[in-house]
Amino acid sequence: MTRRVIVAANWKMNGDLALVDSMLLGLKDLESSNVEVIICPSFPYLSELNQKIKAANLNEIIHVGAQTVSKFFDGAHTGEVSTNMLNDLSIKYVIVGHSERRSVYNETSEQVASKVHAVLKAGLSPILCIGETEEERSSGKIESVLMSQIQPVIDEIGIKNFSDVIISYEPVWAIGTGNPASSAMAQETHYFIRQLIAKQCDQVAANISLLYGGSVNAANCEELFAQPDIDGGLIGGASLQAEQFKIICSAAKGK
Ligand code: PGA
Repeated sequence: MTRRVIVAANWKMNGDLALVDSMLLGLKDLESSNVEVIICPSFPYLSELNQKIKAANLNEIIHVGAQTVSKFFDGAHTGEVSTNMLNDLSIKYVIVGHSERRSVYNETSEQVASKVHAVLKAGLSPILCIGETEEERSSGKIESVLMSQIQPVIDEIGIKNFSDVIISYEPVWAIGTGNPASSAMAQETHYFIRQLIAKQCDQVAANISLLYGGSVNAANCEELFAQPDIDGGLIGGASLQAEQFKIICSAAKGK
């Protein structure tokens, strides 16, 4: 098994029906390649985006993902969306544990682990976000922080199932700031993450896709994606413009 190369768009709470249309128009010439392209809009647009991708015959190239999901299967959880519902809409990917979910909505690593478990159980692919804050980096805690975000997931699902998880390393200080990690810094951290997993299973470490996220744009993506342990990216702001996003998807080709 070779590592999957993935470029995922995280629209966050941005975009509207007009963006769904303009994005697909902008990406209509995207060629089939080794890159799995995923667009994650807010819940209300999942179905429309998926249908329009199919109608445009882009469904082999572009996939749709959600930005979060409930750990519960069903029941009295007002406002939540289940894996079951995503399956019903043929949504196959879910971002889990984004730093905004962790910091603004107080999601703990244990809750994130339960969500990853629910996602895998439903046959969907989780994109697990991890990353340290500026303060954690400057106080030398990067490795312990990343470990504290990864280990509860491995404990919950087992190391073998961990190969079905896509990881996105997103240093919190680089998200939405216009200051990405340097390619050397990102590579160093990705290498560390892979070694951390290798301590538990070499094969899973070798095969798992590690994306980088945090101020990736059309100008810096090539250098980031050229790093040996970076298998693609999770893109926020730059994924709201079809032209930029297309350049980023193309830069991941041939990895
Ligand atoms: P950004 O966001 O590309 O706007 O920094 C990335 C993310 O939060 O996933």
